[in-house]
Amino acid sequence: MANVTVIGAQWGDEGKGKLVDWLSNRADVVVRFQGGHNAGHTLVVGEQVYKLSLLPSGVVQGKLSVIGNGVVVDPWHLLEEIAKIGAQGIVITPDLLVVADNACLILPLHKDLDQAREAAATQKIGTTGRGIGPAYEDKVGRRAIRVADLADREALEAKIDRLLAHHGPLRRGLGLPEADAAELLAALEAVAPKVLPYARPAWLLLDREVKAGRRVLFEGAQGALLDVDHGTYPFVTSSNTVAGQAAAGSGLGPKSAGYVLGIVKAYTTRVGEGPFPTELNDAVGQRLGEVGREFGTVTGRARRCGWFDAVLVRQSVALNGISGIALTKLDVLDGFETLKICTGYRLGEATIDHLPAGLKAQGQLVPIYEEMEGWSGSTQGARSWRELPASAVKYVRRIEELIGAPVALLGTSPQREDMIVVRDPFQD
Ligand code: GDP
Ligand code: IMO
Ligand code: MG
Repeated sequence: MANVTVIGAQWGDEGKGKLVDWLSNRADVVVRFQGGHNAGHTLVVGEQVYKLSLLPSGVVQGKLSVIGNGVVVDPWHLLEEIAKIGAQGIVITPDLLVVADNACLILPLHKDLDQAREAAATQKIGTTGRGIGPAYEDKVGRRAIRVADLADREALEAKIDRLLAHHGPLRRGLGLPEADAAELLAALEAVAPKVLPYARPAWLLLDREVKAGRRVLFEGAQGALLDVDHGTYPFVTSSNTVAGQAAAGSGLGPKSAGYVLGIVKAYTTRVGEGPFPTELNDAVGQRLGEVGREFGTVTGRARRCGWFDAVLVRQSVALNGISGIALTKLDVLDGFETLKICTGYRLGEATIDHLPAGLKAQGQLVPIYEEMEGWSGSTQGARSWRELPASAVKYVRRIEELIGAPVALLGTSPQREDMIVVRDPFQD
């Protein structure tokens, strides 16, 4: 298949960055299609650690990288990230990075609103506080400022007026100071010459790439359970994170997704608030967090940890049309005497095999567990099945069976090459 779409199949942080970096080598162009700098993708290459939030992970391998129209772009953050990665020796130029000229901007007022709402809420979402939700609201509300507007002072002035007419009452209601139109205009005019060199019609570039037979790698952020439609609403992010968004968020047609590679952690984690049926508030959960170094890249918050939930991943396989998975962090389970996999839920008297849509029901789910034998040997750094203890292989096989998708890649450490390659998604 020509293209590959990488998506998170759980609540994010499954290891998408590592996989996109690895797959970039086989791709010609890498495209982000949703989310913004709420994402945190960590890539480990030898002694170097790269942390990317907005830039496609393809930049590290020097691949043509596109921030698609479906992404919300904080222009100041973009420049900071370009400078930060530049200091690590990855030089970003307009030849390497393209930002869709029809992508919407995240402005300081979006961040203000995100943070003020969270501070005022009795039931917090636990957002990253980076303005993602409010920026998408303005996009759908048809009052957002887009990348192309940076080149047009007149359009910018009119748009700022319209935007502030909407944000004024919101800010007053939350006790925030008035936003200043002149200040915002000046800030945008200052940033414009630095951002505009990257701005192009990304859809056109991608169309030409595809027609020339080049291979596209779509890089999803977040995960299916944070999808604004399919996730644990309202404890979700504000974009569609499922594979179907790869087309709409980049400007290519729906057949372009190609092989859909779901990234799946060998256990479950979540950052922020919301239902989490297999969460472990005990020593086991703590151990998963410590061994797995489960701390958010963006906010530094400790991630909540729990057993593998096959029900959720099976649902994700369906929602994304997953062709195969990359199972990551198997090594974190080394040394556990027993492991548990959730195979269904009890909801009152009923037994169910999927995540119900209602938040109340989601909060009442009691996992039905299957217990499996753990392993005492190490899987760390393994690059072939032969290196895995028999119980580890059994655990992987059972996951495949329960979720109804095959393992294409199996991660055994944070390092780029530490992986068992069962099949190359680009060659499937
Ligand atoms: P992403 O948001 O999906 O890209 O994932 P993050 O980068 O936020 O979190 C995944 C973390 O696990 C990162 O620190 C990775 O370096 C690390 N990681 C990825 N794959 C593996 C693996 O197979 N084993 C271990 N131990 N760590 C991994
Ligand atoms: P990557 O790409 C994990 C979570 C936040 C919060 C909710 C809404 O690294 O997997 P937002 O700021 O998006 O409005 O926050 O979504 N969240 C993530 N959790 N990984 C991510 O990205 C996330 N991006 C957002 O913690 O619960
Ligand atoms: Mg992450």
